[in-house]
Amino acid sequence: MDKVIIFDTTLRDGEQSAGASLNAKEKLEIARQLDKLGVDVIETGTPASSPGDFEAVHLIAQEVNRPVICALALANAEAVDKAWEAVKEASHPRVHIFLSASDIHLSYQLKKSRDEILGISRDMVARAKNYLPDIEFSPMDASRAEPAYVYQILEAVIDAGATTVNIPDTVGYATPQEYGNLIQGILTNVPNIYKAVVSIHCHNDLGLAVANSLEAIQRGARQVECTVNGIGERAGNASLEEIVMALKTRQDFFNLTTNIDTTQIYKASRLVSELTGFSIQPNKAIIGANAFRHQSGIHQDGVLKKTITYEIMDPRSIGIPSSTLILSKLSGRHAFKERLAELGYTLSEEALNHAFQGFKELADKKKEIADRDIESLIAEELRTTTEIFHLDHVEVSCGDHSLPTATVRLIDPDGRSLADAALGTGPVDAVYKAINRIVGIPNKLTEFTIKSITEDIDAIGEVLVRIESEGVTYTGRGASTDIIVASAKAYMNALNRLLARKSSKKEKVS
Ligand code: KIV
Ligand code: ZN
Repeated sequence: MDKVIIFDTTLRDGEQSAGASLNAKEKLEIARQLDKLGVDVIETGTPASSPGDFEAVHLIAQEVNRPVICALALANAEAVDKAWEAVKEASHPRVHIFLSASDIHLSYQLKKSRDEILGISRDMVARAKNYLPDIEFSPMDASRAEPAYVYQILEAVIDAGATTVNIPDTVGYATPQEYGNLIQGILTNVPNIYKAVVSIHCHNDLGLAVANSLEAIQRGARQVECTVNGIGERAGNASLEEIVMALKTRQDFFNLTTNIDTTQIYKASRLVSELTGFSIQPNKAIIGANAFRHQSGIHQDGVLKKTITYEIMDPRSIGIPSSTLILSKLSGRHAFKERLAELGYTLSEEALNHAFQGFKELADKKKEIADRDIESLIAEELRTTTEIFHLDHVEVSCGDHSLPTATVRLIDPDGRSLADAALGTGPVDAVYKAINRIVGIPNKLTEFTIKSITEDIDAIGEVLVRIESEGVTYTGRGASTDIIVASAKAYMNALNRLLARKSSKKEKVS
């Protein structure tokens, strides 16, 4: 049976979603899970875009050995060289070069002729080929370009050494039939196409990304670019879990396989959601909270008699935990470690000790600790290891006849303790104002949401905030059984991301 190569671009195109910025450590954590998931290629970032992205790509290249580690570069010499620099220590490095191919992009954006674009594409692939054998090329906006011109570009870049050619539906414009025809046309009309893998990359602007990808696979594409939870530019990319489970569940139809260990899908999905701050809609196929819930009486009756009546996939095949084991304050370090392992977390001794301390503190406040609580605890653990300012203390006074007042103490990057206080319209406003008085970075709060992780009254509250500064959105998350503390942590998490980006920009200038 033929195999489809799974190229994951969660860390590159996925991270391009507004408000989803990930730091190097978070990217590495996701890359490790993608490795466990069994993806063939991880696109890790665009090294020329910022020192932070270069660092993340470089770190993953050093640490993650099994899959191909890919870096994206616009077709110019500096970007190609940076991409190579960032991935050269990988066991299996790849450089992915892209340049627009549609007349819309050529005339309105690049102001270059078709001949010029073809020449640059060929030259940049040849340049990269001097560094490494594995080169991918994408003619951007291919689905809106003239097919004959796409064929010409592909022939030229394959001649120059491209080993994978990727056909992006950059703005999610194509319909399945059109996109399938384009792929079939490429396989028929590009004379040297047998020397390269044909890859597809679909965006979801019309909700067709997965349908387009599956059609293209049917027509002969053998690499699919996709993201966990379907995150990505604008409406996102084709969702990895939907494509993989479609190929697996309907193997009778597609007659194709992948290298994915589908039992790692749930964990990958949760991790990406935690670290990007993008919640998963309940009705999302495969990994939404309702994906395996049956509400109607007729459906419930059927499932109780035989699951196949209304369930086409086994939730265990996606890795949805079936265990009902609940931890409590009587559970020891061993049980905690075991549960972490079952949930797919392997922590260093130091991180485990710290997480266990957090678990004990939580268990003192909360009778039963469910898997979701543990996931939230670990996410909090990850967030605090990348801090610039640390929230040391927060205290509020509020009520229906008092002026909401907050006192906050932060530890700055030099280890100094800085305290301040403020009044606000409510306790959260007061806390945020007190934090702003210390950190002093102008920003606008654009979103604040709070939800409880589990059902009980003693549940952990999880706060998500988005702030905006100089046109960039930063997401922050915080969790605690005290929602004011969770709110303060979430705001600090977003501010720390903002500060990290500002300092990496300064590095670039100096
Ligand atoms: O959507 C797109 O065209 C891209 C390319 C860089 C592959 O993401
Ligand atoms: Zn894209």
